[in-house]
Amino acid sequence: MTSLAGKRIVLGVSGGIAAYKAVEICRRLMDEGAHVIPVLTKGATRFVGRTTFDALASERVQMSLFDEDDPIPHTTLGQTADCVLVAPATARVIGAYAAGISSDLLTATLIATRAPVVVCPAMHTEMWEHPAVADNIATLVERGVHIVGPESGRLAGGDEGAGRLSSPADIVAAVSRVLDVGEKRSDMAGLSVVVTAGGTREPIDPVRYIGNHSSGKQGYAFAEEAAGRGASVTVVTTVDRPGPLGATVASGVTVVRVDTAEEMAAATADAAKEADVVIMAAAVADFRPVDPAGVKLKKRDGVPAIELEPTPDILASLGASKPEGQILIGFAAETCDVADNAAAKLNGKGADYIVANDVTAENAGFAHDTNEVLVLASDGRVHSVGLRSKRQVAQAVLDLVVADRDGRANVR
Ligand code: PMT
Repeated sequence: MTSLAGKRIVLGVSGGIAAYKAVEICRRLMDEGAHVIPVLTKGATRFVGRTTFDALASERVQMSLFDEDDPIPHTTLGQTADCVLVAPATARVIGAYAAGISSDLLTATLIATRAPVVVCPAMHTEMWEHPAVADNIATLVERGVHIVGPESGRLAGGDEGAGRLSSPADIVAAVSRVLDVGEKRSDMAGLSVVVTAGGTREPIDPVRYIGNHSSGKQGYAFAEEAAGRGASVTVVTTVDRPGPLGATVASGVTVVRVDTAEEMAAATADAAKEADVVIMAAAVADFRPVDPAGVKLKKRDGVPAIELEPTPDILASLGASKPEGQILIGFAAETCDVADNAAAKLNGKGADYIVANDVTAENAGFAHDTNEVLVLASDGRVHSVGLRSKRQVAQAVLDLVVADRDGRANVR
């Protein structure tokens, strides 16, 4: 049981069909002891009456930027909140918030607050997948806003697809986690996890190398999510933890620094021997110069003919020597035919899962703070994880891993 006792939560409700679920969210927050202040947009009241929230919440519904008792309700709300939660968040509210436009009390409060903000999008699939919405979500993630959902499922009008509001239970649990009062997840306690991160560098000469655009963000997101859930984690990486200057690695994560595919292969093979879960998020070069020059190549000597040879395929060799019970997760960075190419990697490399990344997709793949992936399991299941922060992608994939391990344990 989580406890939000005494926490002041501004519950922003905007105008979508999922607004009716905000009533349940309000009730659950109240049950957890939170002090809930509902802020409804005009659109929200088309879907759910303010009387319902007046009756359930700690304070009466607020809607207007101009109040007789308080001349500046948005700053009062923003400054006194412990958390601002928007559920459901429409494309309009998300867009206004990302652009810094305060067109009503809810958007003004969002801009006026320094409290953590949790945004729970809900809209039709076409809207959710629109590049403008994707850009706005990426902007909010970059600014540290917590995005919860949406899920895939039945939508208004009988349509199916991505865009359904996350469940009230998940949303309240996310608020608890954000405020650090939630029950810490410990479903990976006792597990040993190895993660690779970053792009390898294959030397051409002492100053040049063959590399790629991997920032290590996705790999570190896995490492920190697994450590946060109790695992002991080794990250084999070519880069320091990406983030603001001086960002430190989460406790419970051991860092092994490498440069080349060869070094990554050796360090990963060593760490993976005893690992329960191995996650190959690094972008490993497939080719390297056969004979790197010992001194810097000179332009005056002409364009060098660089002979290349294949690097060791780390994932394939881990797949071939996988200890009983170990879960091996490979990635696939693709620019076309994503599902087919990922399926070929799943079959060819002995992995239990392939996390397929369309690196040409908007706000996904290399260096972004957000990602969207397709997870292919060796038993034929396919899970789609829509655009969200890299940490939330890691969370979704590790949820599958934990369920998989629990399933295997129950079969024994
Ligand atoms: O680091 P970020 O900026 O956050 O970006 C994240 C990411 C795009 C790098 C990540 O999400 C991703 O897709 N990683 C895999 C990149 C890659 O090398 O894909 P691939 O399709 O070339 O390789 C398939 C799998 O084989 C990968 O798990 C890779 O780690 C592994 N591999 C590849 C070559 C090789 N010689 N040995 C390997 O083990």
